[in-house]
Amino acid sequence: MALVRFVLRSVVEILVLPVTILQYIGMWDPLYKRFFPHVMSRVTVTLNKKMGKVKKELFDKLPDFASSSGLTILEVGCGTGANFHFYPWGCKVTCVDPNPNFEGFLRQSDTENKHVKLETFIQASGEDMHQVASGSIDVVVCTLVLCSVRNIDLVLKEIIRVLRPGGAFFFIEHVVAEKTGWLNFFQHVLQPAWRYFGDGCSLTKDTGTNLEKAKFSELNLKYTTERLAFNLIHDHIVGYGVK
Ligand SMILES: C[S@@+](CC[C@H](N)C(=O)[O-])C[C@H]1O[C@@H](n2cnc3c(N)ncnc32)[C@H](O)[C@@H]1O
Repeated sequence: MALVRFVLRSVVEILVLPVTILQYIGMWDPLYKRFFPHVMSRVTVTLNKKMGKVKKELFDKLPDFASSSGLTILEVGCGTGANFHFYPWGCKVTCVDPNPNFEGFLRQSDTENKHVKLETFIQASGEDMHQVASGSIDVVVCTLVLCSVRNIDLVLKEIIRVLRPGGAFFFIEHVVAEKTGWLNFFQHVLQPAWRYFGDGCSLTKDTGTNLEKAKFSELNLKYTTERLAFNLIHDHIVGYGVK
């Protein structure tokens, strides 16, 4: 089976060779990064319908981590601001995303969600958020982001750095399907194409393991299922880790 998987994956790699060449000469990313926020603004509507219950249950816990001056949230990989709707009244949000083309969509989401105050948009990657002071944030949020980052462990280290002691990291992330099933097989076969059309997204990451190894004093993590993206995504981890 490993050989079949290797052969099929190689076929996919050959099929996406034109995109690989565009990427190599530096033309793919600038184009796709302009287009992707438009994709996400449409996908968000479906995502929030499908994941709405999970998001509501999770984000209902956010006020437990407010400090005396209120609740400060840092959303890493904020995209279009899909989570604003679920945030508690009066919270102050700082958003980080490496793709500046999301900012317009984010401002729109801020306008539509009067209960949230968007303080700043920082164009940066989660691996290096030096613009955010250490120990300054009550809650960090990532939803469907760690699949796309280059180095999960570095992002988690940065998240722990910016959190105040007792602050929490809230996450909803899709993860690789169980090893023995067909879905896992197809996730590995299609990954060479998926990374281009999913803006760097990986279908094959086991992010739960990274979270378990990260230095949270307490980790509440559960596995759940929801079919997304042409059924290529099925398994998710949901929860929060306390610094
Ligand atoms: C699938 S979108 C999810 C957006 C949003 N969190 C949501 O739930 O709708 C992935 C997001 O992660 C961002 N991203 C990609 N690489 C990143 C990195 N290294 N650090 C932070 N964000 C990143 C992308 O620009 C994009 O906004």
